[in-house]
Amino acid sequence: MEAQREQYLAAIAAAEDVAALKLVESDLLGKTGAITLLVKEVSSLPKEERPIAGKERNRLKNELQKAIDTRLAELQEEALERELGASDFDPSEPGPRRPGGSLHPISIVQNELIDLFTSMGFSWQDGPEIETEFFNFEALNIPDDHPARDSQDTFWLDDGNLLRTHTSPVQIRSMQRFKPPLKVIVPGRCFRQETVDASHEHSFYQMEGLVVDRGVSTANLIHTMKTCLRALLRREVKVRLRPGFFPFVEPGFELDVNCPFCAGDGCSVCKQSGWIEILPCGMVHPRVLKAGGIDPEEYTGFAFGMGLTRVAMLRYEIDDIRLFMSGDLRFLEQFPEVSG
Ligand code: PHE
Repeated sequence: MEAQREQYLAAIAAAEDVAALKLVESDLLGKTGAITLLVKEVSSLPKEERPIAGKERNRLKNELQKAIDTRLAELQEEALERELGASDFDPSEPGPRRPGGSLHPISIVQNELIDLFTSMGFSWQDGPEIETEFFNFEALNIPDDHPARDSQDTFWLDDGNLLRTHTSPVQIRSMQRFKPPLKVIVPGRCFRQETVDASHEHSFYQMEGLVVDRGVSTANLIHTMKTCLRALLRREVKVRLRPGFFPFVEPGFELDVNCPFCAGDGCSVCKQSGWIEILPCGMVHPRVLKAGGIDPEEYTGFAFGMGLTRVAMLRYEIDDIRLFMSGDLRFLEQFPEVSG
């Protein structure tokens, strides 16, 4: 049996490819292979020979199977190397880069503000882009003859509804839905019938903020706005309030921040003033609280309307508003890639 063993091992070693090895394997270990038969034969041997013969033959069978497996792995390895050697494929090269998309600059700014305000206890609300005249105007104390109602500005729909011209209608919706104390932000898309140019778009993004509680004052408004602008602009900020008129706030303000580009010295962005108009805000008008179902004798509140589009323009020094909706990849690809 030793001679046979040598011969079988030599046959295995001599197999030059996988197909040849498979043949040797089936000759030896297949259903009617030499070794299979040899093992089967044990049962027909005289009883006293069986244990030893069985052990030996099984050992041989296992040894050959192992030799075949080892040779198979060798041959496969060789085949792979041959294949790789034959082409100029270099497995050590990094794979092709799959470029990820990037977030739209407005999404970047919006996400940052949502994180910031939710960390300060605000809840994030949503509202419909198609609004009723009541929520967009009436409830916000915007009288019939107010210029904002002019068909120049508003996209009216055939059914008497309109595309919201600001996110302020969600102030009313939130007040009606929740009881004070109330702290909400409402990022969203707004529409105005504008002639589109470098600084006007018919679609733009705002983020409304509303806080209603007992004893809320202008000091709370200023503090909240400073905290927000400091985080957004990543620097210490100075703010100032100028009077501003919006029918739904009283008093109403335009809030300016010291210019991030020239640190207040005066430059083209701030038109040499050292200040940049950043957002309108004010104390919620008592009539608006009433329309929201809140007693103005008991509660006060502040509201602000941040132009997300404007903030993104300032942050990224984008000088043409039309780029936001252009879908131009050369523009979009400049923003940080989102890792997959
Ligand atoms: N809704 C106003 C606008 O779009 C902005 C604003 C919001 C002003 C909240 C004051 C308070 O112009």
